[in-house]
Amino acid sequence: MFNHQSSTSRSCRSRTMANLVSTWSKTAQTLPENYIFPADQRPGSFEIPLCQNIPVIDLSASHSKTVQEILHACQEFGFFQVINHGVSKDIIDDTMEVVKEFFNMPDEEKEIYYSIDPIKRCKVYTSGYDYANEDIHFWRDNLRHPCHPLDEWVHLWPEKPTNYRDVVGKYSLEVRKLSLRMLELIREGLGLEPGYFGEELTGDQLLSINHYPRCPNPSLTLGLPKHADADIMTVLFQGSVNGLQVFKDGQWLGVEPLPHAFVVNIGHQLQIISNGKLRSAEHRAVTNSREARTTIVSFISPCPDTIVEPAKSVIDTGVPRFRPFKFKDFFKFYEEKKRDPEAVLEFYKIKP
Ligand code: OGA
Ligand code: NI
Repeated sequence: MFNHQSSTSRSCRSRTMANLVSTWSKTAQTLPENYIFPADQRPGSFEIPLCQNIPVIDLSASHSKTVQEILHACQEFGFFQVINHGVSKDIIDDTMEVVKEFFNMPDEEKEIYYSIDPIKRCKVYTSGYDYANEDIHFWRDNLRHPCHPLDEWVHLWPEKPTNYRDVVGKYSLEVRKLSLRMLELIREGLGLEPGYFGEELTGDQLLSINHYPRCPNPSLTLGLPKHADADIMTVLFQGSVNGLQVFKDGQWLGVEPLPHAFVVNIGHQLQIISNGKLRSAEHRAVTNSREARTTIVSFISPCPDTIVEPAKSVIDTGVPRFRPFKFKDFFKFYEEKKRDPEAVLEFYKIKP
């Protein structure tokens, strides 16, 4: 989908496969130098308290209450958790089990999917988007693949574990349904016309499995550095191991793992569509020395050629704060600016 081939994508597979943190860190006693972040970006040895403030929204509450609560959470935090969301506990547990099993497979089994080719959509890789040109690597491996429409992509997904496609297929469908339901509540809260979040704006769904192995020195490194997501809506399941932190009012807040709850955050696209009313908050993932952490992330994004812009009904009374663009152009720019995330929205802002 995003066609920007680079020369690094042709490097030798077996040599780069050895880069997977889960492969080489099994015997690592210390943190390699190229995983040590500059002092001002390190998490430090101080444990960030888990935050009780990030809203927990009960989706079984009354319709008007959930519309109000979600809108408030998106304005204040850009983040919230949902409970009583209708996705069965068995589907969530089975999915967590199968994705952990994937990362626990022997190296040769994972190697089949290893790639740093930016145009390859189903792949395993490590650290960030452009490993070869990174000064500092992130302490994570990643398995990702598109999942909507399911029959178009499922044949590219891992064949092992043997139940991967079946289990993860069910999970992707359920999480998509939940995401569209929450977008509908946001649509209503913003006063956008019915059907606003149709296939054009939500037609791309990417499943991204992050695996953060046990780390010998969590205070010096990061699983994922500070970033905001480029998509419309992200739905994350973090199991029982904490590590996700949200940046709010100059402070990091830890997101507490709640049993079978999803963490939801809105991405740049929804901030733009809402003309800045809703926030796409910055966040990061820290590591720990006790146990590996695996997170299952679903990103709902516009189709590549969709034009995204502030919704007419939102700017009725004011002026548009962002200029229109094709989603694929935005995404390309976002990937290129990973080291300077604040520059992305700035570039699309209309200066008064
Ligand atoms: C992401 C992300 C956080 C986590 O994948 O974009 O922010 O805790 N993940 O894995
Ligand atoms: Ni993110």
